[in-house]
Amino acid sequence: MLIRKPNDIPSSEITPESVYINRRHFIGKTAGIALGGVAGAGAIGGAIAGRPGRAAAQTAQVGQRDWSAVRTELGEELNSFEDVTTYNNFYEFGTQKEDPARNAHTLRPRPWTIEVGGMCANPGVYGLEDFIRPGTMEDRIYRLRCVEAWSMVIPWYGFALKDVIDRADPLGSARYVEFKTLLDPEQMPGQRARVLDWPYVEGLRLDEARHPLTILATGVYGQDLPNQNGAPIRLVVPWKYGFKGIKSIVSMTFTEQEPFNSWKRSASHEYGFYANVNPEVNHPRWSQARERRLGPNCGVFSCEQIPTMLFNGYVDQVAGLYAGLDLRVYY
Ligand code: MTE
Repeated sequence: MLIRKPNDIPSSEITPESVYINRRHFIGKTAGIALGGVAGAGAIGGAIAGRPGRAAAQTAQVGQRDWSAVRTELGEELNSFEDVTTYNNFYEFGTQKEDPARNAHTLRPRPWTIEVGGMCANPGVYGLEDFIRPGTMEDRIYRLRCVEAWSMVIPWYGFALKDVIDRADPLGSARYVEFKTLLDPEQMPGQRARVLDWPYVEGLRLDEARHPLTILATGVYGQDLPNQNGAPIRLVVPWKYGFKGIKSIVSMTFTEQEPFNSWKRSASHEYGFYANVNPEVNHPRWSQARERRLGPNCGVFSCEQIPTMLFNGYVDQVAGLYAGLDLRVYY
């Protein structure tokens, strides 16, 4: 998301789309599989300066695995490791897409603690390893669709957010969960600039948070998350615009009131709480009907445009969450 203040705030992100797979299943079949799952889309608004463009095949060998045959169920190729790790939104390290990869070396993702609190029976402060222990680790290939109208396809590694929610045991009166990013201008020098009201805050309704597509990611391309992607742990909600995917999380708080998320706080006429991907609800300053799929077919002078899908292609899985809700009002 590009930000200018206040009248002129564009923002955006990507929300991944996906196909998700059980890790054992995935590893067991590695080369030559089309992953089963769901399709999605993504997009970014604004200029594509500095966008990545390597074919996935060029970085097919990442770590010990050959990723070249991995596709979504729609036949979409993964974005390359380089795409995923050099074109980022992480304003704590700068507002240009290349800033996080350049600057996020100052973040120290270990040791790391996460505080779970608010309206729940089992609050606590956990070291990272203890926090993720209840989770069943999986690879999940999701489309990331940024509110800025660009998109990628990304192989995350993580576990269902529901696993840690169940352990926390929220009270019956809790309706939402709020997340915060680390606040530390020494590690996150972008927090010295008032582009947002720090720390970055996001939230979900509890039913959204418990949905099986919602994950906490600790890795990408089978490796620990690079700092620029939100190390050591970040949220991924594939049917929502990418700004819901808060990075470098240090707290999770159960609440009765809807969390006041950072982008809504910054420009509520442009960014809401729900942020569901929807090609029929335009951003006030640009259309959300289509998106630029970053990658080999997206260059400086021309870029492949694909239609954006309702809920980023996960309509069958998530539409029931919003039955009766006017998506133009609850954007
Ligand atoms: N989380 C924090 N803490 N700070 C940010 O600036 N940017 C959001 C989201 N999470 C952001 C954040 C936006 S706008 C997007 S599109 C995604 O992260 C981008 O994730 P990626 O860089 O891993 O593709």
